[in-house]
Amino acid sequence: MGLAAAIGVMPVAAKPFASPPEDSLDRLAKAAGLIGFGSCIGSTKSTSVSGSFDDAGVRAIHQSECGLLVSSNEMKWPVLRPDAASFAFERADRIVAWGEQAGMKIRGHTLLWHRADRMPKWLVNYDFGTRPGHEAERLLREHITTVCGHYGSRLFTWDVVNETIDPATGKLRETVFTRHLGPAVIEIAYHAARAAAPSAVLVYNDYMTWTEASARHCDGVLELLASLKRAHLPVGQLGVQSHIGDGRCGEVDGDMRFDDAAQRRYRAFLDAVVAMDYRLAITELDVSEDGTPADIAARDAMLADLTRRYLEFMLSYRQLDYVLAWGMVDHHSWLQTRGPRADGMLKRPSLYDPNYAPKPMRTAIAQAFRTAKRG
Ligand code: XIL
Repeated sequence: MGLAAAIGVMPVAAKPFASPPEDSLDRLAKAAGLIGFGSCIGSTKSTSVSGSFDDAGVRAIHQSECGLLVSSNEMKWPVLRPDAASFAFERADRIVAWGEQAGMKIRGHTLLWHRADRMPKWLVNYDFGTRPGHEAERLLREHITTVCGHYGSRLFTWDVVNETIDPATGKLRETVFTRHLGPAVIEIAYHAARAAAPSAVLVYNDYMTWTEASARHCDGVLELLASLKRAHLPVGQLGVQSHIGDGRCGEVDGDMRFDDAAQRRYRAFLDAVVAMDYRLAITELDVSEDGTPADIAARDAMLADLTRRYLEFMLSYRQLDYVLAWGMVDHHSWLQTRGPRADGMLKRPSLYDPNYAPKPMRTAIAQAFRTAKRG
């Protein structure tokens, strides 16, 4: 056993990257008036962002760049809830403890990923008995109360509900919970979260974007946010996931242009959100690259350019609180498993390359923070 393992310390990479950046992205974000910058990390082997927590080079990058952290999969029902009777906190606990040791502020993601295809099989097939509404509410409240209670004030914010608007219809998605509770499921979730995490900022998180194809999604999110306000629900922030770029794999539905028309459309959407008194956060930034050239320099330049323009636009909102990337390095990105590039090359959606070297996207983010003109 190595010394580090023997004394219970995570080993750090021998040579994570040649020269650590002068100013960390977290420091630059703070100088721009944000709470900070961070990223997800994960330890769930079956998926891709997965192994990142087990990669010492990635942990070293987080430690040098990030003041915020979120666990990519470990607080979701499929990992946390092996069955209706138990909770498996170990994986999430390791990540939270590590982030705390590194002095990071930690987000919770997510109490209710309200999509049937993201729920564990046992839940989808659950026998809700003779009083199904009662049992569905009990199960949901128990989950939220237990998970929020487990972490207490250690998490500063929670994505309470994630992705409940169906982009195709603009309406609530249908799940076992809506089958038995109707739209009240959303209200129950926020009330339970507020009771169990009284000081956390409660968030609605989704992946609506600027394309015309996303208009119904944006309208549905606005309708939801308005209804949450009317019901006096304690939701403080819209999480703008920001899986930007050109991709066609469900959560990614953008383009590389982000031209004037797109910016006008998206500004109208975000203006309506902040007019309802919601704060904003970028919660899952990465860039898809369908149709980009194989040439790495040309490709990186395109992805970095879109990132910079998008961040400049988002930073014009004084209501924007922070920026989180969905992974710091290319080779652990979840996008690697969401349909390969036509040429079979590794995708480059993140800030650092597989040699743990900073890429133009990292420079673009730093530049956007340095030149930020907050609204
Ligand atoms: C993704 C993870 O990164 C993957 O490892 C997993 O297989 C699926 O979920 N929107 C979200 C995140 O809110 O939770 C998703 O994370 C990416 C899209």
